[in-house]
Amino acid sequence: SAPTVVRTPAELRELGGGISLVPTMGALHDGHIQLMKHARPLGQTLVASIFVNPTQFAPGEDFEDYPRTFEADLERCAEAGVDVVFAPTVQTMFPQALRSAPSREVPPPLGPVQSEITVDPGPLGTILEGASRPTHFRGVLTVVSKLFGLVRPDVAVFGEKDYQQLVLIRQMNDALCLGIDVQGCPTVRDADGLAMSSRNVYLTPEQRQQAPALYAALRAGAAASAGGADAVLASAHAVIDQASGVDLDYLELRSADLGEPTPGDARLLIAARVGKPRLLDNIHLTLPPEGN
Ligand code: PAF
Repeated sequence: SAPTVVRTPAELRELGGGISLVPTMGALHDGHIQLMKHARPLGQTLVASIFVNPTQFAPGEDFEDYPRTFEADLERCAEAGVDVVFAPTVQTMFPQALRSAPSREVPPPLGPVQSEITVDPGPLGTILEGASRPTHFRGVLTVVSKLFGLVRPDVAVFGEKDYQQLVLIRQMNDALCLGIDVQGCPTVRDADGLAMSSRNVYLTPEQRQQAPALYAALRAGAAASAGGADAVLASAHAVIDQASGVDLDYLELRSADLGEPTPGDARLLIAARVGKPRLLDNIHLTLPPEGN
């Protein structure tokens, strides 16, 4: 049956306990549906939030163009067993920002919003994605903490596609003692390996052909993992350096919690621009003991 759409904190308070939350910015694809299917049995009431958060976009990024497909999203939520869609207004999420810019329906990203109390992502917010998008994770963590406070979920589910975001949300949850069970779900891919993303709609047909090079590079890196960190990076670079139309931003090997890579669980992370969108991907791999 169709999910109930709620827009206010008062309506959320009527939901009671046993809540699982899947936070999204809408433009739902099969990756989001997997998060919902994972979350469905974890609680009594499954809430999906749909909110395009202006504060995680910097000026000049794609806030205005970000795909908005609310009616189709509701249908997908219904199929995935979502009970409640929380679709707040910007005013609900950032009342203080709007007070300081009363004539605007949407505050300019990180304009007046900066005057609010925000969540500082710490040093992990400055590497990888944070190096290219220095204000991004402050915007993400601030809005996720607000969603946690409004929805008060027992469990919240995020995709591993945005791996650094997932690690930061776990760290915030621990550091601020929020007590939520934060769970990650594996990336969902198209048949040719391209990680699903709402931003894939920006790719032209030619760029769509080029975009699977990111995952091909990660797979090549993971296949070389027995040879150690240098072999992983050399193998991944060999693929990405050959790829046409792919403008590499970073290709980095890190530990599972995004520190320096050590033997055992590791993550190889990539970001590259393919035409308009900046695409992200990452893969788990296991590094051998030192000296191998
Ligand atoms: O991953 C996303 O879609 C967003 O960053 C999130 C977690 C919903 C916060 O706006």
